[in-house]
Amino acid sequence: MVATLSIIGAGRVGKTLGRLWVDAGSVQVLQIMNRSLASSAAAAAFIGQGAPIVEGHALEPAALIMIATSDSAIGASATRLAASGVLAPSAVVFHCSGAVGLEALAPVERAGARVARLHALRSFAAPERAMAAFPGTYCGLEGDIDAMRALERLVGACGGRPFPMPAAGAVFYHAAAVLVSNYLVALIEAGLRCSAQAGFARSEASAMLQGLVTSTLDNVFVAGTAAALTGPIARGDAEVVRSQLAALSPTDPQVAEVYRALGSLALDLSARQGSATLASLEQIRSILDAAASGTP
Ligand SMILES: NC(=O)c1ccc[n+]([C@@H]2O[C@H](COP(=O)([O-])OP(=O)(O)OC[C@H]3O[C@@H](n4cnc5c(N)ncnc54)[C@H](OP(=O)(O)O)[C@@H]3O)[C@@H](O)[C@H]2O)c1
Repeated sequence: MVATLSIIGAGRVGKTLGRLWVDAGSVQVLQIMNRSLASSAAAAAFIGQGAPIVEGHALEPAALIMIATSDSAIGASATRLAASGVLAPSAVVFHCSGAVGLEALAPVERAGARVARLHALRSFAAPERAMAAFPGTYCGLEGDIDAMRALERLVGACGGRPFPMPAAGAVFYHAAAVLVSNYLVALIEAGLRCSAQAGFARSEASAMLQGLVTSTLDNVFVAGTAAALTGPIARGDAEVVRSQLAALSPTDPQVAEVYRALGSLALDLSARQGSATLASLEQIRSILDAAASGTP
């Protein structure tokens, strides 16, 4: 059955999911509301359906309403939606945030809607690429049981893998996503900054590091983190760690701090792997601790 859908906030996530569901024949998009009409119209063009509107325009009743604004705008959007009087009692209103809970949708729930959230474990940097990569994406669901059933069908129709989000520990669930996605980007930036110190242009360094990053990820997901660890900390080579920290500390203290903090986690992995001697790992621990306390 094709359900009617309106989207409040069709940016990277809203455009991607909207288009995937239209392509799968799962929804008919009625309206798309962004902050500017030009942005709403661009989203409608990408999705291929939907009347572009902005706040102040009348909303029509829809079976599904997706709020995919930035996290900070979800609560205010829900409040305005509840006050619009357009919600049918069976309407499903959901947001897409991993960080914001269902409490942000309390106004629409009080107005009679069924509420849920759908958090896709995928980096939506560019909608075209996110669409192509979407099949197989794990999508966390939380909320009203009927709303979750409706979202489960939508997720499945475009190749996603629905799963129940943890009721307790949601903050850790989302922190995990931030670490492995957003902070991985930041880590690669740290590598590019180091490469610049060695005289490489960004594009050259990016091409050089790509194979290293992807082969490391392959190893992690085949063998696990402890077995995938290579390099000076896996070998227990304390002098390499000392000299690299000494070079980085004065030239790029921010990157040196990342090197030290992640080195400490790598030490735990190295101990689990068991290739390096305990004495060499102790030596590396002293070097990292000294850097943390600012002792040369
Ligand atoms: N990006 C990711 O990788 C990712 C992954 C999983 C979950 N999420 C979640 O998905 C949600 C959307 O993220 P995103 O990355 O797609 O954000 P985004 O690209 O910044 O898009 C947000 C959209 O919301 C619109 N908007 C903002 N405030 C609004 C308001 N008050 N009323 C109507 N529209 C409003 C913006 O309109 P204008 O274009 O007119 O400014 C923009 O089109 C967030 O909850 C985020 O946490 C994101």
